[in-house]
Amino acid sequence: MKLEVDAPRLVAEIEALAAISDAEAPAVTRIVFTPTDLKARTWLKAHCEEAGLTVRQDPIGNIFVRWIGSDPALPAVGTGSHIDAIPNAGKYDGVVGVLGGLEAIRALRQSGFRPQHSIELLVFTSEEPTRFGIGCLGSRMLSGTLSPAAARKLKDNAGAGLDEVRGQAGFGGELEAVRLPTGHYKAFIELHIEQGPLLERRKVPLGVVTSIAAPASLRIVIEGAGGHAGAVLMPDRRDALCAAAELILAVESGARASGADDTVATVGICEVFPGAINSIPSQVRLSADVRDTHLQRRDAVLGEIESAGQDIARRRQVSIRNELLNADAPATCAPMVVETLLDACRKHGLASLPIVSRAYHDSLFMSRIAPTGMLFIPCRNGYSHRPDEYASPEDIARGTLVLAETLAALAQ
Ligand code: GLV
Ligand code: MN
Ligand code: MN
Repeated sequence: MKLEVDAPRLVAEIEALAAISDAEAPAVTRIVFTPTDLKARTWLKAHCEEAGLTVRQDPIGNIFVRWIGSDPALPAVGTGSHIDAIPNAGKYDGVVGVLGGLEAIRALRQSGFRPQHSIELLVFTSEEPTRFGIGCLGSRMLSGTLSPAAARKLKDNAGAGLDEVRGQAGFGGELEAVRLPTGHYKAFIELHIEQGPLLERRKVPLGVVTSIAAPASLRIVIEGAGGHAGAVLMPDRRDALCAAAELILAVESGARASGADDTVATVGICEVFPGAINSIPSQVRLSADVRDTHLQRRDAVLGEIESAGQDIARRRQVSIRNELLNADAPATCAPMVVETLLDACRKHGLASLPIVSRAYHDSLFMSRIAPTGMLFIPCRNGYSHRPDEYASPEDIARGTLVLAETLAALAQ
């Protein structure tokens, strides 16, 4: 089998998809179920059909692109990622795994390889939490981690329910039909940019992921008392933003106190109401994102945030309400998939580094229903979730080649 990845075509497709965006280039913004997301999905499905693959969608909008194997009754080998992008993101997060997956399939077909197991490219709905507050919506539902009943209660930032939003986007059908049974996939592999600096620093072209860190997120609402910025004297204030400032620092110190590099915590959203220069903030909405490879250590930070909130609320006479949006366990990649990835790297004479994924991915949830592994490629300076995110054509092509080799080994 002579595998040849068409790197110029793949890079051109990454550029073309990046142009379907709600942000001005080089930034990419593509929020799930917006007209832009739907346009990107249409573009992508057309490319998959052009490649001779069969396309289906489920009621939450996950896309399944199948190359039917010689024994279609066997469990398929899955690969894929996401094409939604957070506000002001880059071109490569998720997209490399989707378009790289498509190119891997095309390279395999071109080489004359015929799989016994079907090979399926998955494009997961809403890996990013931007619209519904929870990440990996599609893979959570596929794996049964998020029940249809819980999903129906999700609301988007404008207060619209998931069923209403997906219906308007053209995705009907019962959410009960989304879940896939364990055994549906023989294995699942996700190609992704590292989103961190280790591969680049160590000058290693590929990372074979061993485990994926445990993410948790909170929505925090702080209620104080508003009023006139000139007339209310300082001793009488119950300023919600001042309370939020203390709490934000408590989130940071909670993570720092663990002493482990793997413990990280971020407040990425701070909405101030009413938001006027001459008005004391009466309400603040925060988000907190806490992650660790070690579950108890992650949960200890959540505990710190809770107790810091109680202390701040008492001292400042405000109310602080925390809503836990998700608190997921970490995942261990399947030794069988890791070994197959390592063999594929060796076969092409490529060095690889065992690596932990500190970002979450749909693979975190796919690992609950299938033996799962991930392959990382370097990205410049480790930058991700920003417009200057960059992966070189050579690195993308190498990752795609090893992905193709791995899919072939698993599907034969
Ligand atoms: C995924 O985008 C993450 O935030 O890890
Ligand atoms: Mn992302
Ligand atoms: Mn991603």
